[in-house]
Amino acid sequence: MIHLHDIRYVRMGTRDLDAAIAFATKIVGLELAAKDGKWAYFKSDKVAVRGDTRDHTLAYFEGDPADHVVGLELKNPNDLDKVGAELDNAKYPARLGTKDECEQRRVKAFIATQDPTGNKIEIVARPFNSGVRYFPGRDAGITHFSHIGLNTTDPKRDEKFWTTVFNARVSDWLGDTPLFRIHTAHHSVVLFPTTRPGIQHINHQVEDIDDVMRSWYFLKERNINIVFGPGRHPLSGAMMVYFEGPDGMVFEYSVGVKHIMPEEEATYRPRQFPFERYALDMWGSLPTVSGFAEKKPEREKMRVVV
Ligand SMILES: [Fe+2]
Repeated sequence: MIHLHDIRYVRMGTRDLDAAIAFATKIVGLELAAKDGKWAYFKSDKVAVRGDTRDHTLAYFEGDPADHVVGLELKNPNDLDKVGAELDNAKYPARLGTKDECEQRRVKAFIATQDPTGNKIEIVARPFNSGVRYFPGRDAGITHFSHIGLNTTDPKRDEKFWTTVFNARVSDWLGDTPLFRIHTAHHSVVLFPTTRPGIQHINHQVEDIDDVMRSWYFLKERNINIVFGPGRHPLSGAMMVYFEGPDGMVFEYSVGVKHIMPEEEATYRPRQFPFERYALDMWGSLPTVSGFAEKKPEREKMRVVV
């Protein structure tokens, strides 16, 4: 089993790098930490996250907007050789990153693989930390990059991948959607059934519910497409708002996610929730976000019919 420490970064292609930079800084509130040719790197961690001050948590590059990569940090960087062997044995692709690729990602080493859906995953050893604090592009109240929604073409199959290849644990299920924790936060990765690989949404934690609501007004005023919320997820307890960014990518602000502490691990049992309106949001907002909205024959009940 590959023991992960946390999500480290996401990388996404865009046809319009300047527009993506403007949105990431002026709307989402990230900091443009560096721009290097066709690459732009963003910081978002106001606080040290699990002991780390991440060099960047999002990178946009000029390229295919459907090209998404998730960087996952190894708990023990010395395990990288073992990771290659384990992936090989389990018949998953495993390719060691080149020197140039490592420089581009600002890491010492990584192995590139894919989950069964085809999501590109980079398992990273010794990523760079930063000595410079995060200076937000706008005051959205962001404290750190926290989790992602990831597309799956077969949730059961990919749940097995995440929980047997990696140390991901199911915290709860929402319909067929498993929510995985990697450390104490209720979820770091959430699988959304659909027909293609890719990142479904990107979450940043904010300080307060006031930040969620202030951003809601801020986004509405600027005609940003709000795709879910404001609301509260009953599974994690987090209060949230979701909105659409460049190339259709969904960003989320949330606060109040519950944690499952190490002493609770042995007795914690994942719960099954139906894919229904008040399981998605106990305040009752209805999502139009991809991955939630595509499969609802009845908007009110939000039941999945398979
Ligand atoms: Fe989320």
